[in-house]
Amino acid sequence: MKKIVLTGLVVLGLFVSAHAEDGAALYKKCAGCHGPSGEKAALGASKIIKDMSHADFVAALNGYKDGSYGGAKKGIMKGQVTALNEAQIEALATHITK
Ligand code: HEC
Repeated sequence: MKKIVLTGLVVLGLFVSAHAEDGAALYKKCAGCHGPSGEKAALGASKIIKDMSHADFVAALNGYKDGSYGGAKKGIMKGQVTALNEAQIEALATHITK
């Protein structure tokens, strides 16, 4: 019984945090390189991130986190994404991609 209650609380916690993340606020630190709406090629090297699909955007950020994705400048992105959790990455994707 105790276990069920705890699991319920964890699920509720995830749900609440997923909905509390503010993609627009999180994106502020990205705008300098990617443009206010993700319309620029960051440092002349990245894709136009607003044109990426939601899934590709999430996969790219997770890939930078675990080192499995990226080009010559991926080190820059690793520093940007290491502190982001799953809910924050989802919120960013929802904010920037179509
Ligand atoms: C200091 C400049 C800079 C900042 C700040 C920055 N990025 Fe990037 N971003 C880049 C560069 C450069 C690349 C291409 C890296 C590579 O070689 O893979 C990139 C790549 C990406 C990609 C993958 C695009 C592709 O070409 O495959 C995504 C998605 C992305 N950034 C999202 C973000 C988000 C979201 C943030 C904020 C949390 C952010 N970036 C902050 C410079 C930046």
